[in-house]
Amino acid sequence: MPPRPASSARQLLSRALGVPWVGKSARGASDWIDLQWSLTVQSLRGVAPQARGRLLDVGCGSKPYEHIFRPFVAEYIGVEHEATFSETAAEQGDKRPDVLYDGNRLPFDDNVFDTVLSVQVLEHTPRPAALVCEMGRVLKPGGILILTAPFSFRLHEEPHDYFRYSPHGLKQLCGDAGLTVVEMQQQGSLWSLIGHKLNSYLGLEIARVGGIAQSMGKLSHEAVEARPPRLWTLPLVMPTMGAISLGARLLDSALPDRTEALGFLAVAEKH
Ligand SMILES: C[S@@+](CC[C@H](N)C(=O)[O-])C[C@H]1O[C@@H](n2cnc3c(N)ncnc32)[C@H](O)[C@@H]1O
Repeated sequence: MPPRPASSARQLLSRALGVPWVGKSARGASDWIDLQWSLTVQSLRGVAPQARGRLLDVGCGSKPYEHIFRPFVAEYIGVEHEATFSETAAEQGDKRPDVLYDGNRLPFDDNVFDTVLSVQVLEHTPRPAALVCEMGRVLKPGGILILTAPFSFRLHEEPHDYFRYSPHGLKQLCGDAGLTVVEMQQQGSLWSLIGHKLNSYLGLEIARVGGIAQSMGKLSHEAVEARPPRLWTLPLVMPTMGAISLGARLLDSALPDRTEALGFLAVAEKH
């Protein structure tokens, strides 16, 4: 039987993405269109030079930000909650956590890390105050916590999606853990928030490219996307997503709004 056109197009696409320069260009374009990813990476790059010594990445997933921090630290250790991690696509990847635990007490002594990093994890624990206290406990006095959490983001990793965070909430959680916030960064504004929501809908629900994104190493923290992509929508959907991302970036700079954001990044010190 001759192959169905849709499946041969899919095979062609996955073969094309396997060609190094095609895969790299596609990943670069997708990272630029993905406002949440770009803004997170931008803010992490900004604070990475403050990292030092032994770094613990709490809820590291597939360690997508290790390359940003590596040049500044002596050691990079990733720890994950075994049960929730096993439900993500990252579980099948080759960049795995160094340590798995039960999600309660971090399996490290007090005062042993110079830097603790935690990116988009606080929304996934039912007891965020306890987890921030654990991060504070393993930090050495003088050490820093780099914490990012979403302020507005679609439901993901369900049912382990519990909270969203304002800068005041992050300050309170850090303060309660004996940490002082020394820097707070807003990630995006009203326009990137709207743009990201529209693009998520177009990409994930209309074009259904979640599986393609996962084959490029993205969305690894979500469950494996089983739905096939709708390749025939791409000629319309991709340029639209690019235009939305460009418009959102321009409007964010021209008309910033401090009351809306995709998320916030806090840097806190332990005294
Ligand atoms: C949205 S993913 C983020 C993964 C990674 N930090 C990133 O930015 O790609 C949230 C991760 O937090 C992990 N997680 C949830 N509760 C945790 C806990 N108490 N301790 C450590 N990790 C936890 C989940 O297993 C999941 O991999």
